[in-house]
Amino acid sequence: MLDISEIKVIEHDVLIVGAGGAGLSAAIEASAQGMSTGIVMKSLLGKAHTVMAEGGMAAALANVDERDHWKIHFRDTMRGGKFLNNWRMAELHAKMAPDRVRLLEEWGAVFDRTKNGLINQRNFGGHRYPRLAHVGDRTGLEMIRTLQDHGVHQGIQAYMECTALDLLKNEQGDVCGIVCMWRETGAFTIFKAKSIIFATGGGGKAWEVTSNSWEYTGDGYALAYEAGAELMDLEFNQFHPTGMVWPLSVKGTLVTESVRGEGGLLLNNKGERFMFNYIPDRFKSETAETEEEAARWLAGDPNAKRPPELLTRDVVARAINDEVKAGRGSEHGGAYLNIATQRTAEDIKKKLPSMYHQFKVLAELDITKEPMEVGPTCHYFMGGIKVDANTTMTSVPGLFACGECAAGLHGANRLGGNSLSDLLVFGFLSGNNAAEYAKNKEHSDFDKEHVSKIIRNATDILNREKGANPYLLHEDLENNMQKNVGIIRSKEELEVGISELEKIKSSYKNVKAKGASQFNPGWHEALSLRNLLIVSEAVAKAALLREESRGAHTRADFPGEQKDWLNYNIVTSKGQDGKMKLSKVARPEPDAELKRIARSSIEDLEKEVARERTQS
Ligand code: FUM
Repeated sequence: MLDISEIKVIEHDVLIVGAGGAGLSAAIEASAQGMSTGIVMKSLLGKAHTVMAEGGMAAALANVDERDHWKIHFRDTMRGGKFLNNWRMAELHAKMAPDRVRLLEEWGAVFDRTKNGLINQRNFGGHRYPRLAHVGDRTGLEMIRTLQDHGVHQGIQAYMECTALDLLKNEQGDVCGIVCMWRETGAFTIFKAKSIIFATGGGGKAWEVTSNSWEYTGDGYALAYEAGAELMDLEFNQFHPTGMVWPLSVKGTLVTESVRGEGGLLLNNKGERFMFNYIPDRFKSETAETEEEAARWLAGDPNAKRPPELLTRDVVARAINDEVKAGRGSEHGGAYLNIATQRTAEDIKKKLPSMYHQFKVLAELDITKEPMEVGPTCHYFMGGIKVDANTTMTSVPGLFACGECAAGLHGANRLGGNSLSDLLVFGFLSGNNAAEYAKNKEHSDFDKEHVSKIIRNATDILNREKGANPYLLHEDLENNMQKNVGIIRSKEELEVGISELEKIKSSYKNVKAKGASQFNPGWHEALSLRNLLIVSEAVAKAALLREESRGAHTRADFPGEQKDWLNYNIVTSKGQDGKMKLSKVARPEPDAELKRIARSSIEDLEKEVARERTQS
């Protein structure tokens, strides 16, 4: 056994892994509860996928349309998620989001303003009213800036460029620590904690075309899985409809939904506004079916139906995919997105400054004059670690999860803008509950043999004589997921995908990174690859099991939603034999009142909300 007595040990009451919006919100709350709070991140403070939620945070503040209310936000979220959402999480989110957004403002976030000086809100897909509190098209960035400033001043301890390798548990099976590696030196450290919160984001780096940067390798999912936690509904992977398609060097980079929220049109190579042909029955009563009707909305008529470009992301991504397949795609295999004909150059530069800059610099294109070319890009995991809706604790005592790495809130498809408010609401709840949990606990001893094994597994990658190149294995994985586990899936392709994954997994057993342990990107790549492979297997197997099309999960061989499948989540865990185990788990019956709200017609619900307002 490796002698681990020289390994540094750092203690905190509550330890958070991941420093995006969820991790920072959790850390702020845990430290506000008087807990010694540490936050470990693989990258640098301020660099997180949160900044890729550019267009805003959804909250029923009712600043722009006073008819908005938590009940309508809740209904939109459930319908967007195709009713597979965790009902309680969707309720908590819709009810708590407005206050959390106002608190962010108190902490210094500089939102765009309405004429009356309130936080401004914009339209986004699937949201009935202008609901996204925003800062131009840099909302996620402003959120991170504000939270990190607040958190650091409150005394949370940040550990940067520190990769979490595996969790440690005590004799009772509760989480008690985590082994980490400093990327700069290659040295190991054990963090002891009374409770741990995972806020590690998603695993979009399993696909070739993605808005995710290098950090998003599903670490939280994989570490939780290895520690015995359950994962849920990993088949629901969101392909954001609008990523850049050209030039190739920036393929996948996000083009914010705010472009459509501000009136941008989607066109095929015949100049047709093709989204009119893709309006699902469920959304027909609320969506404009002609150019004239859609123009009324753009002109600001509050009772006009919304344009079809603002249908939910799953619908828009599939429509672009279909247009390209039918030979009506743009020059480089996407669709055209035109804001130039819809807004003045001055407006575009004011409301979409990052997009203006991004296309100018990266694509030599002026979006105030020309259309952009866009196509689907892997953006977000709706599924993740299974948590309790109220406490956010996972099935492993002491381990909590929030943000993209937790499952439930978004069901089968997330509405744009709901993730930033998710981070605020569930980050807070995680921090609060993890602090409560830690208050009654002492630090416990960890299993030294386990630590030694974790370190050996990591260093073996450097020490073996030869083996597979981690970069090439990652490339094989991306190609496989893109081709066989993409937007449109089938049994045949998924089976090929799973058998390819087996081959990659078998090569991975012998993965070899050249060089020493000091800042060694090949080694870091190899370490993350273990996590990506676990996540990819869980995604592909869950996608094969769910024999229906719902939200972001589309099966060519099982078109349409199957009523029976609404009753099940797919839960994945590690079996006693070390193999991945998937099961269909029956969902509990929802609260009757929540069910009534979500299933009400919009007209009835609007009347109900108006009545409540007059009475109060
Ligand atoms: O398009 C966007 O600005 C992304 C927002 C989100 O994913 O919530």
